[in-house]
Amino acid sequence: MSGSIYGTHFKISTWGESHGKAVGVVIDGCPAGLSLCEEDIQKQLDRRKPGQSKFATHRAEEDTVEILSGIFEGKTTGTPISMLVHNKDQRSKDYGNIAYSYRPGHADYTFDEKYGIRDYRGGGRSSGRETIARVAAGAVASKILLELGIHVRAYTKAIGPVSIDNEDYDFSCIQDNPLNMPNRGKAQEAAEYVSECMAHYDSCGGIVECTAEHLPTGLGEPVFDKLDACLAKAIMSIGAVKGVEIGDGFEAAKSNGSKNNDPFRIHSDGSVFKTSNHAGGVLGGISDGSTLILRAAIKPTSSIFSTQQTITKDHEEIDIAIKGRHDPVIVPRAVVVVESMTAITLVDLLFANMYAKMESLKKLYER
Ligand SMILES: Cc1cc2nc3c(=O)[nH]c(=O)nc-3n(C[C@H](O)[C@H](O)[C@H](O)COP(=O)(O)O)c2cc1C
Repeated sequence: MSGSIYGTHFKISTWGESHGKAVGVVIDGCPAGLSLCEEDIQKQLDRRKPGQSKFATHRAEEDTVEILSGIFEGKTTGTPISMLVHNKDQRSKDYGNIAYSYRPGHADYTFDEKYGIRDYRGGGRSSGRETIARVAAGAVASKILLELGIHVRAYTKAIGPVSIDNEDYDFSCIQDNPLNMPNRGKAQEAAEYVSECMAHYDSCGGIVECTAEHLPTGLGEPVFDKLDACLAKAIMSIGAVKGVEIGDGFEAAKSNGSKNNDPFRIHSDGSVFKTSNHAGGVLGGISDGSTLILRAAIKPTSSIFSTQQTITKDHEEIDIAIKGRHDPVIVPRAVVVVESMTAITLVDLLFANMYAKMESLKKLYER
């Protein structure tokens, strides 16, 4: 089992290494009749592309996507959609010194322990480049969601100690700053903080927040495929993610039931709503119709340029000075990855929910 397949009804299978010929994805389970072209995918890939600012790795990749199958005359055909991106700017010799030693905080040691063989060039399969495949699949999932009026959006909530309060969000400026933060002043403050880390050959982490608006009630399959459980798995599977919160998350542990419970009310048209959303749109593992809110905690990039202690493959203690090109902060490039994994999970659970009730099945099949 290689663990490279995710989803049940909308199933993705990702493949490829950082310095191999290409990385890609096969999607099985996309309905026929969705308008889809390479630009739809490219737009999303361009949001995670390297080399776009001084806060991202300088690896110069265009990351141009090719769709190999599953589309005819601009529409999906219901057959597997296969997409790939060729790797072009590999500098494998930069990784020579990690062939025989392990980067602290990276996956080198555990891959060697598990498999006894490791593609050390650029981190192989444990590289951030693997997320290209997720973003390509996420672009398809987001298109399906948009057709259903569901809008998924992610952004940087915090970089290191610089965090934006909810009431200070200005979503109009997310794309104007390289850190993808919804507040110009905080983006500037965060940029200064990252620059300071870089000057000390160090890195930093932060928090990505993601919301999904206009979700219907009913998504999530108790008990093991609850909406929050599936999201936690999807987001935790992204390299460098160390924590996932839904709604108030860890803050809820400090609250009281009287504050944390979201009261139910009825609109004049008879529809149900909650007057608060501490639960982040999920009750009992099932979407409750309010906005889904999740946050991912992203650790500081492990590949830093200051000298660190480590061991060789032969278990000899050494000092290592890492070369290669690395993101000083992963957070801004992970924004679209978190958004993509959320979209893929929601589509999978939307499909699963279609046969939760006999009346839904009858609507589909009754003659
Ligand atoms: C978009 C993205 C870019 C990344 N870029 C780097 C990088 O330049 N250097 C690095 O050491 N790790 C990078 N990572 C993180 C590693 O992939 C990750 O730390 C590694 O696989 C070990 O997994 P773990 O941190 O989950 O334990 C990146 C991750 C993502 C999602």
